[in-house]
Amino acid sequence: MHSINDYSSAIQLRSDRWSALREATAALARETKARSVTALTKRVGELFVSLAVIEPYWAFPGMSAFDHMRRQFEHGNMDDLAFAVNRVTRALTTGAYRRRHIPLERDSVDNDEHDDEAMLPPEARALAKPYFEVLIVDNVSEHQERWLRSNVTRMRRPEDPFVYEAVVVPSLEDALVAVLFNHNIQAIVVRPGLVLKSKMDQSIVQRYIMRTGSSEDIETMQPENYGPELCRLIAKVRPELDAYLVTERSVEDIAGLDLGICRRVFYNQEDFMELHLNILRGVQARNKTPFFTALVEYSKQPTGVFHAMPISRGKSITRSHWIQDMGAFYGPNIFLAETSATSGGLDSLLEPHGPIKEAQELASRAFGSKQTFFATNGTSTCNKIVVQALVRPGDIVLVDRDCHKSHHYGMVLAGAQVCYLDSYPLNEYSMYGAVPLQEIKHQLLKLKAEGKLDRVRMLLLTNCTFDGLVYNVERVMEECLAIKPDLIFLWDEAWFAFARFNPTYRQRTGMSAANNLREKFRSEEHARLYDAQQTTLKNADDDKLLNTRLIPSPKARVRVYATQSTHKTLTSLRQGSMIHVNDQDFKGEVEQSFHEAYMTHTSTSPNYQIIASLDVGRRQVELEGYEFVKRQIEAAMSMRRAVTMHPLLSKYFKVLTAGDMIPERYRESGITSYYDAEQGWTEMSDSWENDDFVLDPTRVTLGVGGTGWDGDTFKTDILMDKYGIQINKTSRNTVLFMTNIGTTRSSVAYLIEVLVEIAKSLDDLLDDASRMERLSFDRRVKNLMEDLPPLPDFSRFHEAFCDDAGTGEGDIRTAFFLAYDEKNCDYLDLNGSLKDSMDAGDTVVSASFIIPYPPGFPILVPGQVVSQEILAFMRALDVSEIHGYRPDLGLRVFTPEALQKLVDEKPATKKIAQVAE
Ligand SMILES: Cc1ncc(COP(=O)(O)O)c(C=O)c1O
Repeated sequence: MHSINDYSSAIQLRSDRWSALREATAALARETKARSVTALTKRVGELFVSLAVIEPYWAFPGMSAFDHMRRQFEHGNMDDLAFAVNRVTRALTTGAYRRRHIPLERDSVDNDEHDDEAMLPPEARALAKPYFEVLIVDNVSEHQERWLRSNVTRMRRPEDPFVYEAVVVPSLEDALVAVLFNHNIQAIVVRPGLVLKSKMDQSIVQRYIMRTGSSEDIETMQPENYGPELCRLIAKVRPELDAYLVTERSVEDIAGLDLGICRRVFYNQEDFMELHLNILRGVQARNKTPFFTALVEYSKQPTGVFHAMPISRGKSITRSHWIQDMGAFYGPNIFLAETSATSGGLDSLLEPHGPIKEAQELASRAFGSKQTFFATNGTSTCNKIVVQALVRPGDIVLVDRDCHKSHHYGMVLAGAQVCYLDSYPLNEYSMYGAVPLQEIKHQLLKLKAEGKLDRVRMLLLTNCTFDGLVYNVERVMEECLAIKPDLIFLWDEAWFAFARFNPTYRQRTGMSAANNLREKFRSEEHARLYDAQQTTLKNADDDKLLNTRLIPSPKARVRVYATQSTHKTLTSLRQGSMIHVNDQDFKGEVEQSFHEAYMTHTSTSPNYQIIASLDVGRRQVELEGYEFVKRQIEAAMSMRRAVTMHPLLSKYFKVLTAGDMIPERYRESGITSYYDAEQGWTEMSDSWENDDFVLDPTRVTLGVGGTGWDGDTFKTDILMDKYGIQINKTSRNTVLFMTNIGTTRSSVAYLIEVLVEIAKSLDDLLDDASRMERLSFDRRVKNLMEDLPPLPDFSRFHEAFCDDAGTGEGDIRTAFFLAYDEKNCDYLDLNGSLKDSMDAGDTVVSASFIIPYPPGFPILVPGQVVSQEILAFMRALDVSEIHGYRPDLGLRVFTPEALQKLVDEKPATKKIAQVAE
């Protein structure tokens, strides 16, 4: 039997154990040979023991049914047992238990066909009442538990919008395990009888408690505070849930405590109807989708259209002789929901007062922001809005150079002085990592030394990166605020919207870190630490500051923005994105300019379907984000494990680990990989709490250099053309497989099958290869794995666009518009005139963005000097992959005259003499 270490997720473990129990009990019911019966009996016994630590946390089948099955086993009632286990396993797989009672006795009349969720028509599924589980925490006897449950069941009314079942656990520790393990739980009722410690296997319980980061809190708790403390601790791991505290303590006692997610306190233990109504209302508050509902209602109303949009109500289609197929393909509803009206129950995205406003407020609650704004043109637009709202011409912005192109264009539009930050390179895989904190601090300290800190406005970083590198967001912000206490942060979380819905990931999101910082800066403990550090840092030089974990002043301002492509990682139509704001100065300083920026970039005809999908996507994550993200991680982990363990796959492929993608000095935890053949799964929580960078395990980078194909060929010719598998990003010798909340275990299994088939065909090919063919294969592999051109750093802006070579910030806007006039530009051939010119010592300056794919971000920006390293890198690439480069003409550069003219026109430029050519 697999041990718990073989599983990254207890959900998978549970479902695999039930399946194993089904097989074993079915075999046992059939088997007659004594030896086999003995072996099977042993196995069933073991499976019961292992399920006994799991089942108390789930409502179905429930402990009394589980104990009943165990007794059937002990009494040798194998046919009944096999029947019941089969029923439970099927109901768990299909989700039938969510819709109806599942009888487990053989003589019960039941139609098995209904078990199959997939066989239900979608309308039936949409109309079924959603199901959830309520966790009741109370140390009760069996008799009292039955009484509790019957009270819960008695409250059900036909008009209730949802159905729920109760799970009863006795202790605070069990409750924490339950909310982490059982994703069906939506509400928790904490009753006065709860105790602290679980009676379950402490080694398993402690694994879970560690993930909540509450071990220390638990040790020091006073018994009278168990209830309130539990509400507070659950808020840290699953803030979307509702808790209800039933207490015997006085109102005054309770009033002063932090009750976390507690929605209401009950002083009367027996008022079950009041509790029931509150539970339903709490879930309804998350289930509500104001804009989607308004749009559905609108689409049902009869209207005559006397303004734009002939497609609304499908009128231009139904009357058409030529485009009927479009109507047939999409169905009528989408056209009934298409309108340019902003009244009649609908709303305007540009000036929302009704359901869009409400939908944005709900999204703000779900994502932990203070304000949230929807966008219907992707994060590309969100980034430009935030940059324009906050950055004034001349402001200095620190930007990671491998950020998305929307930021570079945003800088052009805003007229920022751009200070590019270099990420650490991963030359072996021809990709960049992320920007080390030391590099950011170093740049800030340089600007401080030059007296320019007041002009520094914003730090802009991508979290997580395309390849899955995740910053220590809170630490970065703390240390930067220690140098510049009002710095604004823009976290590009285009790929990270889902992170909010898992506690390990959540701590590394902009919004969560901002909320933590707000709380921290208010605490006396922080003020004390700050004062103490100030004393030790008196007269400290830069070296000391760089090597100290800096503590910001409690007066520092928390000013954080995050942009997310909801459509990339959660349910939303394409282009659905959100801007989350957590800025203490938003209302006082930014609101107006934000509004202007929003107006600049938002269409006056935003797509309602996108807005509605954002609203529904928010509902989903508030109710099942935790489950879906958990399953996503589970799918990615099983993929990592399968490739690592398979002897044939490991011959040609390699899953890159945190150890491969993050240099050791940024991994304080020392963790190199989440899965290891000898030790099984490594607990991620330690590295996610402390390391400078962590790797998002849901993005699996596969080294394919060993196959002799480069990343792009592998993607297009093999995966796409031969097997219909689509992926997005490649590097010279890697391909990136991204999982998402829609990825299933079967899609992972298919991918593994495909990889095995590819590996087998390579084995066959090499088996029959001649010596020459073998040699050529080995050479190709060596070329892909070893002969990689080093990735170049940002060189510098030319002095025509840069006033201070010491700090290096550049005026990208002037460079960008200078290139509008053809007279200012020339073309140099990569393999001829460009090289000659540089070898002759000329300073060559790019007039446009040059973006090679991979790595997919500008290797040159307008105004940037071409360095020998950049030239070497470009020459080593296949030129057809370089966007912005015209193979027929060459590289677009500024003429020396145009540059000289700008330099001459400048007022006194500083430090030009220091520039080393
Ligand atoms: C880091 C990053 N930011 C922003 C974007 C743009 O997002 P969208 O496609 O939603 O406009 C992308 C797109 O790939 C991205 O990778």
